[in-house]
Amino acid sequence: MFQKIIDLNQCPSGSVLRMPCGEKMVAVFHLTNPDRFVVSDYQCPHAGADLTGGQLRRHYIICPQHQWKFDLITGHCVSDDQAILRRYECQVIGNELHADLDQPLPISPPAHYNF
Ligand code: FES
Repeated sequence: MFQKIIDLNQCPSGSVLRMPCGEKMVAVFHLTNPDRFVVSDYQCPHAGADLTGGQLRRHYIICPQHQWKFDLITGHCVSDDQAILRRYECQVIGNELHADLDQPLPISPPAHYNF
């Protein structure tokens, strides 16, 4: 079931936010290039650090704890091919961003990183 997370005017391009969604907290990323929203778990799948404290570079988030780099488009970790960041279906409805935490996005085919 889709639930409102945030008004779009609170999440300009380049934003990285931790927001409640139902009973969970999620990370919301407003990517600049490509211009799109990504909603994911806010805790790093490596050791649980808060990814919203990390650095957003293009469509990658770099974890503040051990600097693992996650591709927000695919969910894959550039630093460790076993780590996957769980992302969720989201959509813009009017001036709001909504997400369905019951619908994790499928894992994309492995990206071709040089590990
Ligand atoms: S907790 Fe994120 S890279 Fe270790």
